[in-house]
Order: sequence, then C-alpha cells, then structure tokens
Amino acid sequence: MNGSLDAHLFVILGGTGDLAARKLLPAIYHLSRDGNLSERYAVLAVSRDNDMDDAAFRSWAHDALERSGLHPSELADWCDANLFYHPIGEGRPDDYHALRSRIELLERALGLPGNRAFYLALPPRAFPTSIEGMAEAGLHRSSGWTRLVVEKPFGRDLESAGALNEMLHRHFEESQIYRIDHYLGKETVQNLLVFRFSNVMFESLWSRDRVESVQITVAEDLGVETRAGYYDKAGALRDMVQNHVAQLVCLIGMEVPSAFDADAVRYEKIKLLKAIAPIRPHNVVLGQYERGRIEDFEVAGYLEEPGVPADSRTETFVGLKLEVDTWRWQGVPFYIRTGKRLPHRLTQIAVTFREPPVCLFESVGGCQTHPNVLFVTLQPNEGFALCFDVKVPGEPFALRTLPLDFYYKDAFGDIPDAYETLLLDILLGDQTLFVHGDWTEESWRLFTPILEQELAVHLYSAGTWGPRAVDELLAGRGHSWMGLADIRKHHGLFVPDV
Ligand code: BG6
Repeated sequence: MNGSLDAHLFVILGGTGDLAARKLLPAIYHLSRDGNLSERYAVLAVSRDNDMDDAAFRSWAHDALERSGLHPSELADWCDANLFYHPIGEGRPDDYHALRSRIELLERALGLPGNRAFYLALPPRAFPTSIEGMAEAGLHRSSGWTRLVVEKPFGRDLESAGALNEMLHRHFEESQIYRIDHYLGKETVQNLLVFRFSNVMFESLWSRDRVESVQITVAEDLGVETRAGYYDKAGALRDMVQNHVAQLVCLIGMEVPSAFDADAVRYEKIKLLKAIAPIRPHNVVLGQYERGRIEDFEVAGYLEEPGVPADSRTETFVGLKLEVDTWRWQGVPFYIRTGKRLPHRLTQIAVTFREPPVCLFESVGGCQTHPNVLFVTLQPNEGFALCFDVKVPGEPFALRTLPLDFYYKDAFGDIPDAYETLLLDILLGDQTLFVHGDWTEESWRLFTPILEQELAVHLYSAGTWGPRAVDELLAGRGHSWMGLADIRKHHGLFVPDV
C-alpha cells in the first residue's frame, strides 16, 4: 500500500456510466492491486438509478471489470470490500444533503478522515446541477481535502468555457479542480517533457534555427460508432483539436518551465497558446468521411451512421496550419491533421529539421539528401525514431535515410493506462497533468473563431488520409506529410505494427 497517500473516499457522480465501467473502475482496481492506493479507501458510486443498492452495484461493477478483461479470483471480494452505491434521486438540493449524510456515515464506518475526490463522470448538461447541488449541501469543503474532477468537454466555445469556469470558481478554488484531458496521462505524452528537457541534444536544436516544420497527426480508424448524439454536435475541432491536439502543440512548443510543478508547467503552456497567431480561414481544412474501405472492410460514410442527421455538416476531420509567433518558432509552421476513419490509428509528431545549406556530394552524384526527421509516436507502438542519411555501402555513391529508434515496448513492456496515472495524481494532489481553467479559455479563444465561420466541409473516403485539400496546406512551402511508416516502407525496413 502507498504510505504517502491519504486515506480517502472516491465519489463517482455518474458511477454506473460508460466511463466508470470502461476506465475508472479498472484503473482504481489496478491501482489498488499494485499497492498504489492508501490502505484505507472506498469508492462511492452515485447515479440516478434509484433501484440500485450496494449489492447490485457491486455485481454491475464486477461484470464491468470482467468485460474490461479482469478475471482474478479475488475480484468479487475486492468489489464487496471497497465499492458502495448511493442513488441521487432527482438530483434536487435535498438529494445532495442526503448524499452528504451517506458520505459522512460511510467515512465514520470506515474510519476515513474526510479526504474526498468527486469525479463528475457526467454529460456536461448535468454539471451545473451537480456542482450547485454539492455546494448547497456543503460538499465543496470537508475536514480533509476536497478535489473535484471534471471530464471534457470544458465548454463548447469561449463563452461557455468562461461560464463553466465561473461556476466552478464560485464554489471551488482552482487548486481543487482537476480538469481531465486523458492525453496528458499517456506516458508518451508526459515523456515529451523529459525528452525535451532532459536531453540537451534535442533542446539545442529545437527552434527556428534548425527546425523546418512540425507535424502532428492524430488519426483514428474508428468512425463515430454509437456516439452520434454527442459527436454530431461537437465535431472534430471540439472533440480533438481544442483539447488533445492543442495540448500536444503546447508540449512541443513551450519554453523550459522554471520547475517541474503544476504552476510552472501550466504557465508555460498558457504562454505558448497566447503566442499562436489568429488562424486564418485558408489555413483550415475541414472534412467528413464518406463510405470507403479500411483494410479489407467496407465501412459506412458518416451520414449513414446511426443517429447522424442526413444533412449533417459536422466535420470528422480537421487539418490546420498554426503560426507560433515566438522568438523560438516564428516562421516554423505547425501542421495538424486529425480525423476519424483514417487508414489506421496513429498519433505521431514529426519534427523535420532543415536541410544542409550546400550539398557536398554533388560531384559524386549523391545529392539526394533528405532532411533529418524526428518521429515521436505516441500510439500505438510508442517510441521515437530519428531518421538520418547514411551512405549505402559500395558503388555507385548513394544515400539512404535510416531510422535510429527506440520502442517503449522493448524497453519497458506494458505501460499503464492514462487513467491510472491521472487518478493517482488526483489522490496525490498533483495538478501538473491537469488542465488549468485559463488554458481552456485561451484554447477556445484560438479555436472559437473557426467555429463561427461557414467553412467548406470537404468529403474524403474512409480509409484515406483526409480530403486532398489538406495537402495544399503544406504545398506553399514545398512540404509534405511525413510518416515514419512511409519512410520504413520506402526502404524495405520493418514497418511497426500500427
Ligand atoms: C476522446 C474523443 O476524447 O478521445 C474520442 O472524444 C476519441 O472521439 C478519443 O476517439 C481518442 O482517444 P485515444 O486515447 O484513443 O487516442
């Protein structure tokens, strides 16, 4: 058991929902099994299912844990010992007072000192009632610590994000609020900081002096699946760019923080966002997938997906060119593409360095030099590859680009799920990997103007890399999209399983 962790109660509002079943309960179970939780802790699930009780919830949780692939013999005992349930009725003020009584009762029975993490695993429309209800019942303070965990989306534009922050701040201090962006819990995303700030070799090249362009690809082969109700009102810009992708831009572009702590890291990220120039319409490409093929399967177009209105113009793809006006990055384009139903799942950053100023090998016919490219693959097959030119042995004189690479799997085996990392940090009170309220507003300030314009939505076939127009974003500078798999394939090298 983790001796440095305070005994605590984990309250999940929306405790019988999909997030609890797929992510939160498995993460809590893993943390407990690996001895990462305090000796004394409990999980109280809260939902509107008024027919459920402790026993029924334990059985539901047991099934959910099994569905997530967990089958240890002690699973049922673990559920019985640690999981509790409280129905919240209609979610009226009285119901929150009843919740408070139940929490206090449970804490007395289990000898917990009043440290509470409340997780809002709820749709955003339910945030106001829950936050107000908690505050009304005095659940925003306790004899120990009280932390509030909020899942994305944090608003749907600048105005609503501001209103959400204002409501949160009416009752909670910023130091109590843990806004989750699950990308920040991914080991490889965290490692971007270590990679940049612990290896002087890269940091000294990390600027307009040496870098030609930065590309970020966040591709999914999945379509909208069963989430049309949410997704059709959101679209890829709100769903992926404003949060996950913008976080990656910050981690790649930010300055060295003065310390590795929440304030210093989050401050640098906000500074970077503020330095991004307003995005001009010709630097934006929106797309929507049509019927196509992914590997050997024919897949439906977005408009044919269940629950999607036949005339929907919601974008499932976004391509962007960002201009970062800092001394470090001025003139270096940050290209972004993210979308659903692309050829395969891949989150990859490609930092392309400048080409040598003159070619030394022209006289021997070896002028086919290529720029060095650093690929950081965040998923799947997490790792790094630095591509550089070598001479092919023998004659004629020829160059070839080869990767020098490292894969997490080879070095460390399996890596923990993002939610485990984030839940542990909440319990430790470390906000470094959580989103600051000011960051959410800065990010919306940047992206809301795009949402307010009537931009064309180009169609692309499922299984392709988005609409053709996205190549034109790069064409002006003679750039093209870089993929590590392409480089490997081109040279007959082993192509990682992506
Ligand atoms: C979520 C989005 O935040 O991230 C989903 O709502 C998306 O639409 C998911 O599929 C991608 O996460 P990951 O971890 O699979 O890259």
